[in-house]
Amino acid sequence: MLISTWEWIRLLGFVAYFYFTVSIVFGLLRKSSIENAYKNLFFQLHQSAGWFGFIAVIGHMLFLIVDQYEPYHMTELLIPFISDYQPVLSGLGTIAFYLFLIVFLTSDIWIRKMGFSVWKKVHIAVLPAWVISLVHGILIGSDTKNPFILVFYWSTVTVVVIVFLIRYISEHHKKREKAMKKQPVENS
Ligand code: HEM
Repeated sequence: MLISTWEWIRLLGFVAYFYFTVSIVFGLLRKSSIENAYKNLFFQLHQSAGWFGFIAVIGHMLFLIVDQYEPYHMTELLIPFISDYQPVLSGLGTIAFYLFLIVFLTSDIWIRKMGFSVWKKVHIAVLPAWVISLVHGILIGSDTKNPFILVFYWSTVTVVVIVFLIRYISEHHKKREKAMKKQPVENS
C-alpha cells in the first residue's frame, strides 16, 4: 500500500468533510436568487458532492476497522460513545454519520413518499451534521495543528457562513416580494 491505513483514515476524513461542505454550499445556493441561470448545475454539484462525501466517509470508517494501531469494532463505529479511543469525539463522528445518512436516504430514496415540508425539516439536519463533523475533525484529528489544515477549516466555515447569509437574505426578499404582490389583491 502506498500510504498507511492511518493516512487513509485522515485523508478520507478530510475528503468526506470537504465534499459535505461543497454539497451544503451548492444546496444553499440552489434556492438563492443569484442562481437562476445555474439551477441545474448547482443541483448536480449538490447531489454529486453529497455522494462523494458519503463514499469517502464509508472509506474513513472501513479503514478505522482495518487499522492495526487503533482498530475499531463495527459496534464502536455504529453505537456512539462506546469506543475505547476518544469515545466522545468518535461518538460525534458517528452522530454526524447518522445525520448525513438520514438526509442522504430521504433525498434520493424516500423523497417522493414524504411530504415536502417533512422532507425540508429532515434535510435541514445537514447543518448540525456538518457542524458536528467539523468539531469532530478539529478535535480528534492529528492534523489540526498544521497551519494549512487550519486555513482549510477556516475557509470552509467562512464560505458556509457567507452562503448561508446569502440564502437567508434572498429568502427574506422573496417573502417580502410575495407579501407585496398579495397586498393590492387584499386591498381591492
Ligand atoms: C460524517 C462523518 C465523519 C466525518 C466527516 C469525519 C471527518 C474527519 C476529519 C476531517 C478528521 C480529521 C483528520 C485529521 O486531522 O487528520 C477525522 C479524524 C478522525 N475520525 Fe472522523 N469523520 C467522520 C466520522 C467518523 C466516525 C464515525 C469515526 C469513528 C467512530 C471517526 C473516527 C475518526 C478518528 C479516530 C480520527 C482521527 C484520525 C487521526 O488520528 O488523525 N470519524 N474525521
